[in-house]
Amino acid sequence: MLSIKTEYPSKRRSLKELKGEKEMNSILVGLQWGDEGKGKVVQKLSRINDWIVRFSGGPNAGHTVYHDGKKMVHHLLPSGTNRNKLFVGRGTLVDLKILNDEIDEMSKIYDDVKKRFTISSWCRIITSIDRKLDLSFEKMKEDRSIGTTGRGIGPTVSNDANRIGIRLFDFFDETSFSKKIKYLANFAKPFIGMIDVEEEINSLLKEFRKIEDNVSEPFIAGNVLFEGTQGVLLDPMYGTYPYVTSTPTVPSFASYGSGIQADRAEKWGVFKAYVTRVGAGPFPTELSGEEGEIIRKRGDEFGATTGRPRRCGWIDLPLLKYASDLSNIDHLVMTKADVLNGLEKVGMCTSYGDTTLPYELENASVRLEYTKGWKKLDSREFDDFISAIEKYIGKKIEYVSFGPKEEEIKPR
Ligand code: GDP
Ligand code: IMO
Ligand code: MG
Repeated sequence: MLSIKTEYPSKRRSLKELKGEKEMNSILVGLQWGDEGKGKVVQKLSRINDWIVRFSGGPNAGHTVYHDGKKMVHHLLPSGTNRNKLFVGRGTLVDLKILNDEIDEMSKIYDDVKKRFTISSWCRIITSIDRKLDLSFEKMKEDRSIGTTGRGIGPTVSNDANRIGIRLFDFFDETSFSKKIKYLANFAKPFIGMIDVEEEINSLLKEFRKIEDNVSEPFIAGNVLFEGTQGVLLDPMYGTYPYVTSTPTVPSFASYGSGIQADRAEKWGVFKAYVTRVGAGPFPTELSGEEGEIIRKRGDEFGATTGRPRRCGWIDLPLLKYASDLSNIDHLVMTKADVLNGLEKVGMCTSYGDTTLPYELENASVRLEYTKGWKKLDSREFDDFISAIEKYIGKKIEYVSFGPKEEEIKPR
């Protein structure tokens, strides 16, 4: 049995710090409804960071990165490269099978992944009961269903709040762990019927044993990058409730969801030059006709986790400003500007009148304005588009990404 030496990760003074050099923490979040290209930007920033830390979300996340030309979708492992230590903090919901599959896949690219990876014993564990409950609750909601990823996110959080959830530390006492799975199955029975409890226990234990040695709260030295999941508009408290996810997505959750001090971290906000949304919920700038189809095709807008077509629409400045201000963003990064190359005109929502953001979006009257399209990104038309956004948000866009690969990003 593994002994858990520390209760939360501690930030050790590093050589850099002792030499008087500045150490820096950064938090990176998405400023829309997810899939802004966070993984790609994290990979770029991973070069100047020692640790990449997940503090929220779960396998509902799908962060696409290219490691040495090989495409990889990160659901639970932080999107760092071979120079980074990877930590999955306690705010993350963990599906052990998905985690192990991802470790196996990433080990084919970097064979030392297991040596660089630690996971908090306090993480909430997603069971097959939670996944079944997720699907069952979605059906019960009929036309108010959320269009979840089906990964068991909501039920895992609600069972945890109800104090009947499973944590990673539960696996260290198999008798008590087995009892807890039985309680959970009993609780869920009215919604999902009987499940094979023995099989559930055995398959969870089998997966747990593969990562048992990686469970710990690490000593952390050096620069830390906190990798956010989903987007600010999917935050359960500040987003478009009830069409949201169930773990916080805002930067202020980084400390709470990891146990690592992040108060003075610089905040990076990533957004697309347009907007996408997977699943249900209000989307005032949605383009349901041919224009939406063109963006979906060019941007390859299909869910990295579920493969669902993403809904596409024009950039929404009031919502972007809301998300940026709420998150107190220091560095703005625009992605996928290249996808709009060649359009005759590009739209942007500039006002909602009296609508209170983000709550009354369903019946909001949207004011759309258009700028002239551009053929390439080093054109006056594109500069005008950028300037209009910067003026509205009140912040400079520091980087523009123009392709999925790590090097396809440049400062402005
Ligand atoms: P995340 O969840 O925020 O990490 O984003 P996803 O990986 O779900 O979706 C972003 C998609 O856009 C992925 O397929 C990326 O490879 C791709 N991508 C990221 N940045 C750019 C960009 O600037 N241009 C283009 N064309 N694709 C990009
Ligand atoms: P990344 O990190 C886009 C959406 C789902 C659904 C809602 C609730 O890749 O940006 P859930 O399964 O969390 O209960 O679903 O949230 N959603 C995402 N949309 N990107 C994501 O993650 C998402 N994670 C959840 O589509 O509308
Ligand atoms: Mg994604």
